[in-house]
Amino acid sequence: MPFLRKGRLALWFLVLSANAYRNLSDTTLQTLSRPGTDFNIHNGSILAPLLQPRVPGTLGSEAVRRHIVQFFNSTLPEWKIELQTSTSRTPISEDQPVPFVNIIAYRDPPGANPTDIRRLTLVAHYDSLKEPEGFIGAIDSAAPCAIIMHAVRSIDAALTRQWNHTQCDSKYGLQVIFTDGEETFGNTLLANDGLYGSRSLAANWAVDKYPLSSTYESRLLSISLFVLLDLLGSKNPHIASYYPVTHRDYRRLAILESRLRGLGQLKSGGMEGISWFVDRAVDARNITRRSIEDDQVPFSALGVDILHLIDVDPVTGEFPKVWHTLDDDGGHLDMDTVEDWGVLITAFLAEWLELDGYME
Ligand SMILES: *[C@@H]1O[C@H](CO)[C@@H](O)[C@H](O)[C@H]1NC(C)=O
Ligand SMILES: *[C@@H]1O[C@H](CO)[C@@H](O)[C@H](O)[C@H]1NC(C)=O
Ligand SMILES: *[C@@H]1O[C@H](CO)[C@@H](O)[C@H](O)[C@H]1NC(C)=O
Ligand SMILES: *[C@@H]1O[C@H](CO)[C@@H](O)[C@H](O)[C@H]1NC(C)=O
Ligand SMILES: *[C@@H]1O[C@H](CO)[C@@H](O)[C@H](O)[C@H]1NC(C)=O
Repeated sequence: MPFLRKGRLALWFLVLSANAYRNLSDTTLQTLSRPGTDFNIHNGSILAPLLQPRVPGTLGSEAVRRHIVQFFNSTLPEWKIELQTSTSRTPISEDQPVPFVNIIAYRDPPGANPTDIRRLTLVAHYDSLKEPEGFIGAIDSAAPCAIIMHAVRSIDAALTRQWNHTQCDSKYGLQVIFTDGEETFGNTLLANDGLYGSRSLAANWAVDKYPLSSTYESRLLSISLFVLLDLLGSKNPHIASYYPVTHRDYRRLAILESRLRGLGQLKSGGMEGISWFVDRAVDARNITRRSIEDDQVPFSALGVDILHLIDVDPVTGEFPKVWHTLDDDGGHLDMDTVEDWGVLITAFLAEWLELDGYME
């Protein structure tokens, strides 16, 4: 097997050098915007409308979809919005197919050929679990959706300034996917229940071949990094690293978290030395955790690089206490933590997209 090893090693170095971005300055870290009242669970313009049952094919799902689309349409006019629809039977739908609608929003550098653009991609699911009835799914995944919305809004003007300044030779875009149908319908572990939207989208984008002249083979392979947020919003999360190839990005987040804490920019935890990133000191070669089945699976299976930000106790393997119970509602969110996630993901985007100096 020595050949295989060598090949892998070469690829590894390529990945490392391609991502050699610069550190954000302290000044930038100290001036990132916090979500504030937009994350109020009763009346916040971003989060409150997400906190309702949104089972695929229901009116709640439609209302939340409208909220997300309107957010981009009114706040981020430079972004393109697409809805990708599929239908599928579920274990409880009998012969009635259920519609699943993924929401995709992206922004490319002006004038660029869309098939030459590599897109950093943030992902969260916007559907909620059907049972128990009335389930809200605040950490699962209303809060992650809100965190992403806040983060992209917070760097959008800087992106405009950077692209204007660099005469638009950038080949990096930014993309958000809000998936539908992540949750299962049956209560047994049936194969092919759950991940409806992500399975459909990955399959679609894999066959959406770009012209031979373009830099990337397909829309799927133009994803530079698939950052999946799930089960975020409880206090003191434990975020592990699951993929050696993206461990460097994981550590970037851990470093940003620690710098933000050191600068007094995070409200949760408080104590210095506390970190959400349990594998921050581990070497990439020692990352051996089993990945957790989620919306990344159909993409990962087709070769997309994944960073999975999900709160799981590394010792017990348990999800946060409220998981899949009626307690997973707005009132049980730790709002300092949710807001801190908004700031941290903003910092990650700003660093990845090299927006230092453009953030104001
Ligand atoms: C960037 O930050 C890392 C981690 O804190 C540090 O090791 C490195 O020296 C920094 N690079 C520069 C150019 O400041
Ligand atoms: C939103 O709700 C909070 C209480 O959760 C209240 O203090 C605030 O005044 C409300 N804001 C608006 C604009 O209604
Ligand atoms: C976005 O807003 C414009 C003007 O308000 C409207 O004409 C358009 O239909 C909206 N697009 C979507 C996708 O909602
Ligand atoms: C783009 O840059 C030019 C000069 O560098 C400036 O005059 C113009 O206002 C900028 N446009 C935007 C949209 O920032
Ligand atoms: C990686 O694992 C090896 C073997 O278990 C160990 O010797 C080494 O200290 C570990 N390195 C890190 C940075 O965790």
